[in-house]
Amino acid sequence: MRPYDIIDKKKNGFANTKEEIEFMINGYLNEEVPDYQVAAWLMAIYFKHMNEEESYNLTEIMLKSGDNIDLSKINGKKIDKHSTGGVGDKTTIAIAPMVATLGVKVAKLSGRSLGHTGGTIDKLEAIPGFKTNLNVDDFYKIANKVGLVIAGQTANIAPADKKLYSLRDATATVDELSLIASSIMSKKLAVLSDGIVLDIKVGSGAFMKDLEEARNLAKIMMSIAKKHNRKAVSVLTNMDQPLGETVGNSLEVLEAINTVKGKGPDDFSEICIEIAAYMAELSDIISYNKAKEKLLFNIEKGIVADKMKEWIKAQGGDENVVDFPEEILNISSKTLDFKATKSGYISKIDTEKVGLASMSLGAGRKTKEDSIDLSVGIKILKKLGDKVEKGDAIAKLYISDKSDVDKTFSLLSSAYSIHPEISDKLNKKIIYDVIF
Ligand code: URA
Repeated sequence: MRPYDIIDKKKNGFANTKEEIEFMINGYLNEEVPDYQVAAWLMAIYFKHMNEEESYNLTEIMLKSGDNIDLSKINGKKIDKHSTGGVGDKTTIAIAPMVATLGVKVAKLSGRSLGHTGGTIDKLEAIPGFKTNLNVDDFYKIANKVGLVIAGQTANIAPADKKLYSLRDATATVDELSLIASSIMSKKLAVLSDGIVLDIKVGSGAFMKDLEEARNLAKIMMSIAKKHNRKAVSVLTNMDQPLGETVGNSLEVLEAINTVKGKGPDDFSEICIEIAAYMAELSDIISYNKAKEKLLFNIEKGIVADKMKEWIKAQGGDENVVDFPEEILNISSKTLDFKATKSGYISKIDTEKVGLASMSLGAGRKTKEDSIDLSVGIKILKKLGDKVEKGDAIAKLYISDKSDVDKTFSLLSSAYSIHPEISDKLNKKIIYDVIF
């Protein structure tokens, strides 16, 4: 077998066999196939795509390059979730304690922020004392005792994906559906949960800019999950504006805490309840409708907030943060308003730019090596369709001495469009579709 022939075959639009994909991926991992040939192959895939069988094979090969996380030492049903990445997406932090109050276990590995999207692990570290680098025994113990646990990805999960993703990142081949699907599923399937809810973000702040593309991604991921006998549901959700009201680590934890106490923004609360209810349904412990009813009850009665406290304490954090978040979280006291330069209605938000604006304040990373400032971020004061007068604050920036404020203002200025008339085409739908 020669890399040249495998690349040429794909370049001419033919499917690669499992053996050919294995030859490229394992050869790249073992440094027997050079990166320039893998890069050329990736570009051929970018233009000619992979069919479902190829995507499944690529997933399997990347999955088998690393370890599985065995959850069998955790009693009961374990349901995972994954978001394809958005801006202001603090969903996991609110959802995990919600789901745990239904008797469904959440034992989850999460990632850190990169580029315009945030990461759950960084956000959780905004809680004083909260440990995300748990050893395996503590991971199981906390899951069994509390019903939920979230840790950083320290295990050797899908190392082939890690290496391939870096090459995709450097060769403009990240945004290809079969590659995205295989990359995500190789990591998700490695955690041996009983089911996965895939939150596929669609819009200006997401990988998937349009709904058709997102449906296709969902279709590929669902077929990979099914071939693996893993139960899955895809929920396609709107990312044409930041989710909720905050972007930035401590600010997002504050919002997640408010939400488990029933005081969160409507859009964020709705997404949390929906995804939590689908996670419950996948567990077969409780139906989607009953789960929604019970979740609203558990939130109102403070049962979810109590579960969140128990979880935070179990992972070494200060559980008082749930009762006194504004006193305990480190949120910068230095603020600046980003103001409207004309009157009208917010007609469009380039959400990726809002994510980049938060990153330029110091809340995110350009590269994996960058350090971040948990205290900075953006509070979104005006959302799509809102009326503004010239000079009104659209967003509040929480800054530090190191924040690149000029860049943030410039990004926000180009992110927000204000139109004199309110558009009747504004799409404020929160959930677009659910695919089983
Ligand atoms: N997230 C991933 O893990 N992989 C991709 O390719 C894209 C998003």
